[in-house]
Amino acid sequence: MSTKNAQYYIDLEDKHGAHNYHPLPVVLEKGEGVYVWDVEGKQYFDFLSAYSAVNQGHSHPKIVKALTEQAQKLSLTSRAFYNSNLGEYEKKITSLFGFDKVLPMNSGAEAVETAIKLARKWSYEVKGIKDGYAKIIVCENNFHGRTTTIVSFSNDKDAHNNYGPFTPGFLRIPYNDIEALAKVLEDEAQHIAAFLVEPIQGEAGVYVPDEGYLKNASELCKKHNVLFIADEVQTGIARTGKLIACHHENVQPDILILGKALSGGMYPVSAVLANDNIMQVIHPGQHGSTFGGNPLACAVAVAALDVVEEEKLSERAEELGKFFRAEIQKIISKTDLIYHVRGKGLLNAILVNDTPESPTAWNLCMQFAENGLLAKPTHGNIIRLAPPLVITKEQLLECVAIIEKVILNYKK
Ligand SMILES: Cc1ncc(COP(=O)(O)O)c(C=O)c1O
Repeated sequence: MSTKNAQYYIDLEDKHGAHNYHPLPVVLEKGEGVYVWDVEGKQYFDFLSAYSAVNQGHSHPKIVKALTEQAQKLSLTSRAFYNSNLGEYEKKITSLFGFDKVLPMNSGAEAVETAIKLARKWSYEVKGIKDGYAKIIVCENNFHGRTTTIVSFSNDKDAHNNYGPFTPGFLRIPYNDIEALAKVLEDEAQHIAAFLVEPIQGEAGVYVPDEGYLKNASELCKKHNVLFIADEVQTGIARTGKLIACHHENVQPDILILGKALSGGMYPVSAVLANDNIMQVIHPGQHGSTFGGNPLACAVAVAALDVVEEEKLSERAEELGKFFRAEIQKIISKTDLIYHVRGKGLLNAILVNDTPESPTAWNLCMQFAENGLLAKPTHGNIIRLAPPLVITKEQLLECVAIIEKVILNYKK
């Protein structure tokens, strides 16, 4: 346990760090499985999992072992040379997800950037769009990361405003609106390289599209020779009850973007997967990253993917997710404070019966924290609930009891 109290660390960050986040006032110093501990020794259930990066649980022993052993051997070579971990990792990830090739990067945003570049290049060199004219369709309320290009097509004012001039070449349509997609493809398919979509919109508040949306969207894309790009940075790696959320509708995207839990939250590892007809438009010198595909990242990612398979995390998420939503539904029947629960697998959200501007969701999260459970509002009155997938049914029931106690006793 730390000798300093929480306020000391909060003040330190406040004074020396940029104020680009607004954290709950909890200072964490240790994690194990579904639990984290603060500097005063208080134990919490982690119901955010670092935005679904810690699906395998905090400090999973197998991933820690891979990290520490590899760190003592070789961490970084750059891609100027081959390394003895990269090929093994590439073989594992491509066979697991069913693609010919992978392009390794680090953060989720970098992988999204990579997918955009790949789709544009494919559209000029394979599809035959006139150079500089390719467009990519994106959705309202998307969240794909924070780079200048990515925020160019965001309609979240905080993410977007005053970061221009913006990157052109994006068409935004409503999410979960197959007619809107059909129309834009009918009108402009000859200029369109790709449709970039989150299979469930995580940051926007865990919006699950209608059944069939992803299947229909991918078929429309195929019909118009437009690439279907799935950003599964948040929904991938077993979070929603399948290895990737697209599998709920038997969709295999043309380009798959992964990040976050690809390393079990141990290290920034992201990836773009595609088949040869797409990936082979990129040649030496045309894209890269000093850290992408480094031996440490590869060792960690192999271990993290092994854990997903060995511990059957997809199946666990699927089963426990259904159980969890049913339990939350029972709470909803006893209160007016929350009115809806939605999600897939263990990516869920509850909707608070107040305006997005009200502090109710924040206050509820503060009280969850006091009672030993950490969650965070996303977009005002929505609280995302996403524990590590290694949680047991008994632990989940303990969490439901905390959520129920706070909600039923909440006073403004
Ligand atoms: C769907 C999606 N794409 C991309 C990102 C960006 O990932 P990163 O923060 O690692 O850049 C996120 C992060 O939350 C995300 O949810």
